[in-house]
Amino acid sequence: MAEIDGKTTAVERMAASYQGFDPVAYLQYNYTPPRADFTREDSIVPWKLRCLHRAFTEGDIGSEVLVDVGSGPTLYQVLSGCEVFGKVILSDFLDVNRAELKRWLQNPEECSLDWTPFLQYVCKLEGRVGSSAVAEKAARLRAVVSDVLPVDVHSPQPLGPDSPIPPAGADCLVSCFCLESVSFDLDQFTKALANIGSLLRSGGHILLIGTLGMKYYMGGSGVKIDVFPIEASELCSSLKENGFKLIRLEVHPMPEDQDVGTDDADAVFFIKAKKK
Ligand SMILES: C[S@@+](CC[C@H](N)C(=O)[O-])C[C@H]1O[C@@H](n2cnc3c(N)ncnc32)[C@H](O)[C@@H]1O
Repeated sequence: MAEIDGKTTAVERMAASYQGFDPVAYLQYNYTPPRADFTREDSIVPWKLRCLHRAFTEGDIGSEVLVDVGSGPTLYQVLSGCEVFGKVILSDFLDVNRAELKRWLQNPEECSLDWTPFLQYVCKLEGRVGSSAVAEKAARLRAVVSDVLPVDVHSPQPLGPDSPIPPAGADCLVSCFCLESVSFDLDQFTKALANIGSLLRSGGHILLIGTLGMKYYMGGSGVKIDVFPIEASELCSSLKENGFKLIRLEVHPMPEDQDVGTDDADAVFFIKAKKK
């Protein structure tokens, strides 16, 4: 591992901590009940899906290119956005996560998680209750996802020098549980936000979902990943410093019975902001 002044850099230590990340376990911990219980209003995943649905249907977002930064092995975060953008680019740092996403696009029967209940829930939010609605939404998402790319939010060019983003930038970014989960402190978080902000056109929107006060999460059995336990005021200052105007910040305290023992999050936040 490379060293600066004899020390492994913070970015490299973080990258090393992700090497044992297990998409199957991560999906099991976070995307099955009780965290993904569609019969409960206070379950985390339905709450996130409602936040995203509202953000993408308010009339101020929608155009050509939506980029999801740090997708992980999940798709829920683009189920609303895929209806209002012509192109969706997914991205993750790890091969194993990009492979999981590609499986859903190409061989869904080999996926580690059945996304049908998630698709059903978003269709219901959209008022689409017909028997073909879920299949139509899945087809729409497969049609608009143009790439599943490697990304590194600690690089000034997170998608590399030859990314397919238009020169003026993407119209919208979504990024869930990524920046705080790959940063050790506020400075690193703010720099990572600046790096991904460079992918966005002026006047474009950013939607962020993440955890407040979380110091670690499990990325698999025995894979403990340190997290920067960011607070709401720090999120706001970081956005301001990077030229974003906050439109909405919502906080969902973690219901006690959804502490599944795989992280120590206090709450989940949702942010909608606009690049000036
Ligand atoms: C907590 S997971 C979030 C996954 C997904 N977005 C979700 O909502 O569940 C954090 C993700 O950050 C990715 N990651 C790790 N290092 C990264 C880096 N330097 N740049 C971008 N993403 C990174 C990991 O591979 C992992 O998929």
